[in-house]
Amino acid sequence: MAFHELINTRQSVRKYSSKPVEKDKLQRCLEAARMAPSASNSQPWHFIVVQEEPLRTEVAKATFSGAVKFNKFTMQAPVLVVMLLEKPRMLNRIAMILKKKEWKLIDIGIAAEHFCLQAAEEGLGTCMMGWYNEKELKKALNIPGDKTVGLVISLGYAEEGYTLRKKIRKPMEEIVTFY
Ligand SMILES: Cc1cc2nc3c(=O)[nH]c(=O)nc-3n(C[C@H](O)[C@H](O)[C@H](O)COP(=O)(O)O)c2cc1C
Repeated sequence: MAFHELINTRQSVRKYSSKPVEKDKLQRCLEAARMAPSASNSQPWHFIVVQEEPLRTEVAKATFSGAVKFNKFTMQAPVLVVMLLEKPRMLNRIAMILKKKEWKLIDIGIAAEHFCLQAAEEGLGTCMMGWYNEKELKKALNIPGDKTVGLVISLGYAEEGYTLRKKIRKPMEEIVTFY
């Protein structure tokens, strides 16, 4: 796919078919994420890939527990990827403190988008999720208390007939300043 076509094809998919995701496709998505750039090349991420039951259902439930139910579609997604935020390198940590920036959050965002774009290239759908019950996720996956979950990504084939939505974006004039 040409890059601009890929960019327009990727969208958040919130309805999945039960078709399993091929191992090689999943591997290429992970490889795309692995190759993402990061501040000082610190690669502050770890990917927990959850496909096996009953763990997959348990992880899915942790993305919509409580009063908010908008991530219920995760119950259908055959793969759930939990992205952990790893501690960046010492040099990077010092630089972040000095500059008062959270580069590691930028880093995992880029890695997540690499993953999602590769998935789109493979004909797969994804949805990044920032809303989840961290405590429940950690319990389900035995994640140590000092670790942070940065994002959850659902992965799978979109349900048949799931069409490309018109993307609502701010107009160019609003988001760009030229000097
Ligand atoms: C950091 C982040 C967190 C997000 N969290 C959620 C979420 O918890 N649930 C959800 O359904 N979508 C979530 N999204 C998806 C956005 O709603 C979506 O990307 C946006 O509406 C644009 O639509 P598109 O992805 O189809 O282009 C998240 C996206 C990002 C980047």
